[in-house]
Amino acid sequence: MNYKNSKDIFEKAVNIIPGGVNSPVRAFKSVEKEFPIFVKSANKAHLMDEDGNKYIDFIQSWGPMILGHNDERVIKAVQAAVLDGCSFGLPTKKEVELAELIISMVPSIEKVRLTTSGTEATMAAVRVARAYTKKNKILKFEGCYHGHSDSLLVAAGSGLLTEGYQDSNGLTEGVLKDTLTLPFGNLEKVEKLMEKEEIACIIVEPIPANMGLIETKKEYLEGLRKLCTEHNTLLIFDEVISGFRIAAGGAQEHYGITPDLTTLGKIIGGGYPVGAFGGKREIMDMIAPVGDVYHAGTLSGNPISVTAGFETLSILKNTPSLYTDLEAKVDYIVEGIYKLSEKYNVPVCVNKAGSLFTIFFTDKKKVETLEDVMASDTTKYSKYFNAMLENGVVVPPSKFEAHFMGATHNEEILNETLSAMEKAFIEISK
Ligand SMILES: Cc1ncc(COP(=O)(O)O)c(C=O)c1O
Repeated sequence: MNYKNSKDIFEKAVNIIPGGVNSPVRAFKSVEKEFPIFVKSANKAHLMDEDGNKYIDFIQSWGPMILGHNDERVIKAVQAAVLDGCSFGLPTKKEVELAELIISMVPSIEKVRLTTSGTEATMAAVRVARAYTKKNKILKFEGCYHGHSDSLLVAAGSGLLTEGYQDSNGLTEGVLKDTLTLPFGNLEKVEKLMEKEEIACIIVEPIPANMGLIETKKEYLEGLRKLCTEHNTLLIFDEVISGFRIAAGGAQEHYGITPDLTTLGKIIGGGYPVGAFGGKREIMDMIAPVGDVYHAGTLSGNPISVTAGFETLSILKNTPSLYTDLEAKVDYIVEGIYKLSEKYNVPVCVNKAGSLFTIFFTDKKKVETLEDVMASDTTKYSKYFNAMLENGVVVPPSKFEAHFMGATHNEEILNETLSAMEKAFIEISK
């Protein structure tokens, strides 16, 4: 592949934007590529870069593009909305309609507030939890990522793991003291900690997807629910990724567990900037202007984002078969990966949930903890990434992220992907 234009753009970018990118994982650093591809356009399951290369896309904007890029129904709705004006700083009917739709789909949400990003949603949810419980400390799990507000950048996953650290620099001692962390999946440790610490909330990705994908056991989430109820601690499900991806009602519907608060993002904006947090009425009514927990935003509930989100969620709600299709496609690819693994003697463990999967290059039969993830082979992942790119498939540029399957990945595209994977496995086996 020729990447000349991307390289030239990156050389310019790197002098004027830190690292040349506006979100670290885009830099391709951890997969040993000097510069990223710069995307010019996208359509359905494909991306086109500035050099005219065409790729099958398994990043899907890190989740939002579940319907594929440029879904005609979403575009049509957005085009109409744009002509009505793009931001008013006053409420619109569409915000109310989206709120209604979210409430109808996510079992635990009785009231919801829109934000501009997932980061704002988790930040505000933690603030409300502190106000509601009158406690300061929060508990999060190592390798889970909840956006980049200070208190959630401790022992974090995603781009931080990719960059080789977990606590961001620039956090105060107070923040570090108030954010308690434990390994994901160990209920006993949570139980012990809660006996001695007063904790406002446990925030968790019910299906972690930011240390690579981890398959969650239902009993673990049930255990967290029980402990939170016993200790007057709020349970926050961060469903920014799992929401509308694992099922139309997110992981909470899939597992039948009711968190006190839920944070959302990505899909609810249909590719435009958005986030949301919601939950029990009595908790949500602590937020200004009803209560005195402040949350605001010039672009919160932006009319264009809300329109794209409403259209996307409506389609998801009205097409339940979409989820079984997505899962079947993931199963097909995962089965293919295990066959290649055997054929070329490249041991892997593939974790999957709904429309998400991660390939770990490892001898382990199960990858269940951050430790297991860390022990998987980074060099092999880099080879995999680069071979896939050369063969026209963009996969996550980090072993700590998930592959995202979309509605427009058809049989032909899946078979093309498996052919590219075969070439990647041959490369790795050398
Ligand atoms: C689980 C989770 N929570 C929160 C966020 C932050 O969302 P945003 O990037 O929209 O700020 C992310 C982003 O990837 C996420 O994966």
